Amino acid sequence: MKAIVTGGAGFIGSHIAERLVNEGYEVSILDILNTGDKNNFRSISDKIKFLNVNSSYISEMEKVDVVFHEGIYSSTPMYRKDNSLVWKAIQEFMAVMGYCVKNDCKLVFASSSSIYNGYPPPHTESMQPKVKDFYTEARYSMERLAELFNQMYGLRYCALRYFSVYGDREESKKEFANMVSQIIWKGLLDKEVVIYGDGSQKRDLTNINDVVDANLIAAKSNITGVFNVGTGKSYSFNEIMDKIETVIGKKIKRKNIDNPLKNYVDIVHADTTKSKEQLGFSAKIKAEDGIKNAFDYYKKLDTIPDIF
Ligand SMILES: NC(=O)c1ccc[n+]([C@@H]2O[C@H](COP(=O)([O-])OP(=O)(O)OC[C@H]3O[C@@H](n4cnc5c(N)ncnc54)[C@H](O)[C@@H]3O)[C@@H](O)[C@H]2O)c1
Repeated sequence: MKAIVTGGAGFIGSHIAERLVNEGYEVSILDILNTGDKNNFRSISDKIKFLNVNSSYISEMEKVDVVFHEGIYSSTPMYRKDNSLVWKAIQEFMAVMGYCVKNDCKLVFASSSSIYNGYPPPHTESMQPKVKDFYTEARYSMERLAELFNQMYGLRYCALRYFSVYGDREESKKEFANMVSQIIWKGLLDKEVVIYGDGSQKRDLTNINDVVDANLIAAKSNITGVFNVGTGKSYSFNEIMDKIETVIGKKIKRKNIDNPLKNYVDIVHADTTKSKEQLGFSAKIKAEDGIKNAFDYYKKLDTIPDIF
């Protein structure tokens, strides 16, 4: 079996690529090394083909069985700074979908729980998105275009709405890394963690290994549609800090400040019913275990990201 992973030098993409290689797939990675780094796929670098190109280069590629599309600018602040990233994401996505239709291959692509901003939990796929930022517009446009390509050209796809993904190998994302990584880095460097508000805001922390499972299940399934990839449990920032302190065995300095951000997401909490029943995916990794795995990885790094 052959696969293309766009964004395969990034956090999630490199983990997907590694699992695919371990399952015997021939893997090609397309990545512009923006937030990604070749170091992320060092364990498989002699077994994959890497191209330093953007995702639309896929049109030049030979036929594969499945495409995993993670390769777009990956964080909300990037789009706040440059809203032309919305059309770039869409333009490259059109090329990715065109390739999948032409080559009759399944497309599994990253979407986001940011689509639920403004809705009370639990967040379920049938909720009508109320878009409040450019990053989410790019994600929602991609989902709508995939549905249109399905209706018009029979595109087979799964859009995976990731909920707060954390784990090892986020260091090249720097300030865009998940809060778990950033808090562990601060703890290792004995630095203060700044929390917006009183720390009661909640996140549905989803471990990278569960996210990889969801991608592989989606790739092998015949189903098309949009699915949540979350755990169905959410923890407050204060609770997450407590868990990290338990794992690393020391207190981390906390500073609460007024929230400076507009449209800040207060609670993210997945309804996992559709993913369980239709896709057959359930997250398995407990937050405590996932945090421990991430800590065991970060404490061994020669250089802890010091981004503050
Ligand atoms: N990590 C999360 O919690 C989370 C949550 C929701 C959605 N997502 C989405 O999942 C995907 C993967 O996220 P991640 O956490 O691994 O981030 P990441 O930044 O580590 O990965 C993105 C990768 O794509 C590459 N890239 C960026 N623009 C590209 C382009 N135009 N063409 C080719 N490559 C490009 C980057 O260099 C990077 O290697 C992203 O699309 C992100 O928006 C992530």
